[in-house]
Amino acid sequence: MRLVFLGPPGAGKGTMAGRVATLFAISHISTGEIFRSNIQSGTALGRQVAELIQKGKLVPDELTIELVRLRLAEPDVSDGYILDGFPRTIAQAEALETISRPGTVVNFVVDDETTVRRLVGRRVHPASGRTYHVAFDPPKVTGKDDVTGEDLVQRPDDREESIRERLLVYRNQTAPLVAHYRDLGRLVNLDGSPAPDEVFESLRGLLSSVRD
Ligand code: AP5
Ligand code: MG
Repeated sequence: MRLVFLGPPGAGKGTMAGRVATLFAISHISTGEIFRSNIQSGTALGRQVAELIQKGKLVPDELTIELVRLRLAEPDVSDGYILDGFPRTIAQAEALETISRPGTVVNFVVDDETTVRRLVGRRVHPASGRTYHVAFDPPKVTGKDDVTGEDLVQRPDDREESIRERLLVYRNQTAPLVAHYRDLGRLVNLDGSPAPDEVFESLRGLLSSVRD
């Protein structure tokens, strides 16, 4: 199964990708998560992209495409994958066709008001990438990761100004991919606005007939 999860910031791509990857025993590849772990460990790539990400701008295509090319060459990917947050531009989508043609593209449909509410309340455990929401998916102990008990933080790009920029970037650069994949006959729309368990059940039903 080779899936792409497409949708605006805060649509629930990462939350659902984690659950679907476990369900089908396939790899969850989040370009945002790869960049954040590079920033966290202070690599050259991390230093190169930190400011762009904090401001809510896209990392240049060449850099992102090369990163995905290398990741998709790793052995765990042969059982299938979910690309979460890639492609995000037409150039990235065209490059992906030459690396590994995805089968189904799931388009998470959620309005701006909902995504902003989700992003403002999101808290993450930086070391693992585990994600919570202060109201919709709270940790057992306020401000602490359920598994390690370590502090949760707000992503630097979840501040209001960056959120506005990310929504704008989504509209201008990523939303055209919806029509792109629809024209290729590979797009399925998913209502991402209900509660997480409900979204997951819809997704499970939708993917039960997917073969590639
Ligand atoms: P990335 O990490 O991909 O961020 P994003 O696309 O903005 O998406 P998010 O992670 O913010 O949202 P999500 O849809 O995963 O939502 P989540 O499940 O967390 O990218 C970050 C940055 O990296 C980019 O801005 C860019 O700079 C760079 N980058 C990454 N990929 C790139 C690429 N291909 N090209 C160039 N640059 C790239 O859910 C959000 C919150 O809502 C959570 O708190 C969650 O608990 C809660 N929630 C989830 N589902 C529900 C639900 N159904 N009901 C209620 N609450 C819910
Ligand atoms: Mg995410």
